[in-house]
Amino acid sequence: MKHIIKTINAVFLLNLISIYATAQETQEAVKAPQPPAWAMDGNTYLIGFLVLILVATITVLYKINVKLITTISPKAFAKPRIQTEDGVESEEKAPTLLGKIYDRLTGSVPVSKEKDIMLDHDYDGIKELDNDLPPWWKWGFYATIIFSFFYLIGYHVTGTGKLQLEEYNEEMAIAAKAKEERMKNSAENITEDNVTMLTDAGELNKGKEIYIKNCAACHAADGGGMVGPNLTDEYWLHGGGIKNVFKTVTYGVPAKGMISWQSQLSPKQIQEVSSFVWSMQGTKPAAPKEKEGEKWVESNAASANADSSATAQTKE
Ligand code: HEC
Repeated sequence: MKHIIKTINAVFLLNLISIYATAQETQEAVKAPQPPAWAMDGNTYLIGFLVLILVATITVLYKINVKLITTISPKAFAKPRIQTEDGVESEEKAPTLLGKIYDRLTGSVPVSKEKDIMLDHDYDGIKELDNDLPPWWKWGFYATIIFSFFYLIGYHVTGTGKLQLEEYNEEMAIAAKAKEERMKNSAENITEDNVTMLTDAGELNKGKEIYIKNCAACHAADGGGMVGPNLTDEYWLHGGGIKNVFKTVTYGVPAKGMISWQSQLSPKQIQEVSSFVWSMQGTKPAAPKEKEGEKWVESNAASANADSSATAQTKE
């Protein structure tokens, strides 16, 4: 009975450890190749914490199990009777599972046997024991030796892993690419004068994302308006058309509660969100706000552009 319980317990523990190990592996595979990826991931610690709780639970269950079994059949866990040196039979505490693991890991010598390993020097009554290195420490040391072997093969012989220099160069290349991208964006140099309406579904979708994140709180997700005006109707306070919308979004109307977005969004992003706003023209929001401003007629876009831009500036 005792054996069965122990086997079951051991299998449980092994399972837990392997679950933990695979969880780490998958995380590593998904994330960047550098090891700190999983260490930076909160999930790792969550899993670790859950494993701890599970181990604690299993330990408690194990104890309850032992209690139950000793109640049912007292002999199962009877404490061994041992003979001490002076011939008195005494009841030694049966070593517990954890106690045994502990002894294995530390390799500690029982107090009764300490005189066998006592060194023969004595400094004012301070004596020294010749203990072995604790096995857990030695195993750790062997593990590093084994690890170094795999490391050597992986990083220096087969080149599967990337060395620092390689990683550095790779990151520099990525950064250079990002810089190029940025330069290209600013090279596009989008302003309210040359901005064009985007029609590509992907770009409008990006605009929608920006809108939902930054604008929906005041203009409602469907553009119907809340604190800010309705953006789906034909009436505009600061002029309609992509150029005016771009301008209003860029500089804002701070005095009226519409902030300037130029410090938070790039010109490209403002173009995207403005295009999305303009693409909502004529849609039917759930709770449209009353019309505000003047009716915008696309045909007078060219001439009215100058007027309304003047309006926007005076309102600023
Ligand atoms: C804090 C609330 C708030 C947020 C957030 C906000 N707006 Fe506004 N918005 C307003 C208000 C208020 C006005 C009206 C200004 C006025 O009365 O002149 C306005 C006006 C506008 C106008 C001009 C409407 C017209 O009739 O001419 C546009 C276009 C606009 N917002 C787009 C956006 C976009 C795009 C975003 C997100 C990037 C955004 N707004 C975020 C409050 C907000």
